[in-house]
Amino acid sequence: MKPLKEATAEKHKKAETMPFNIRMFQGELTEAEYLSYLYQQREIFQTIERAGLPSDALKRAEAVQADIDELEAKGNSSDAILSSTRRYADYLGTKDSQEILPHVYLNYLAIMFGGQIMKKKVPSSGKMYDFENGHEGMMAIRQVQKDEWADEVNKAYDFIIDIFSELETA
Ligand code: HEM
Repeated sequence: MKPLKEATAEKHKKAETMPFNIRMFQGELTEAEYLSYLYQQREIFQTIERAGLPSDALKRAEAVQADIDELEAKGNSSDAILSSTRRYADYLGTKDSQEILPHVYLNYLAIMFGGQIMKKKVPSSGKMYDFENGHEGMMAIRQVQKDEWADEVNKAYDFIIDIFSELETA
């Protein structure tokens, strides 16, 4: 069986190169666009965190809220949950604390890797990317991840890719 990273590399490439993500990485998003992305992230993190995390060091819902508060205080608003996010959150809502783990792997490692670069590119102070104990959080994921998750992680990438598509056209 292929290692998980290899078995999901094609979808990672696709997610990484979605136009919205490229614009985010290049520092081109407006505050309103980034706020819209944060609303989607909040919905995803809240739903995952209700099912449970393998380590409290990973918790993101409050950090995302702080970034949202910062941008709203500057007069931005765009609180729509996109239909693609609704579909992913509804799916996540059916998972228990074990079944949620492939989605923890995807959504939390996504912001840990490259987070320090992304933090400098986004139009907010980027608290979402700050982990007080990132090493502990990362180890908690690495200890449970399994190559058998490839299908589930690839399915999750498809949800994420749909969200990036909808963000670009919203
Ligand atoms: C600007 C966009 C992105 C860039 C430049 C990027 C880049 C990277 C890099 C350099 C790594 C580390 C590879 C390594 O050295 O091991 C990585 C890992 C990872 N990324 Fe991304 N990424 C991006 C977007 C995403 C997105 C949108 C997701 C999913 C929501 C994602 C999920 C992951 C995951 C799960 C890993 C860990 C893979 C593993 O080691 O098992 N990434 N990414």
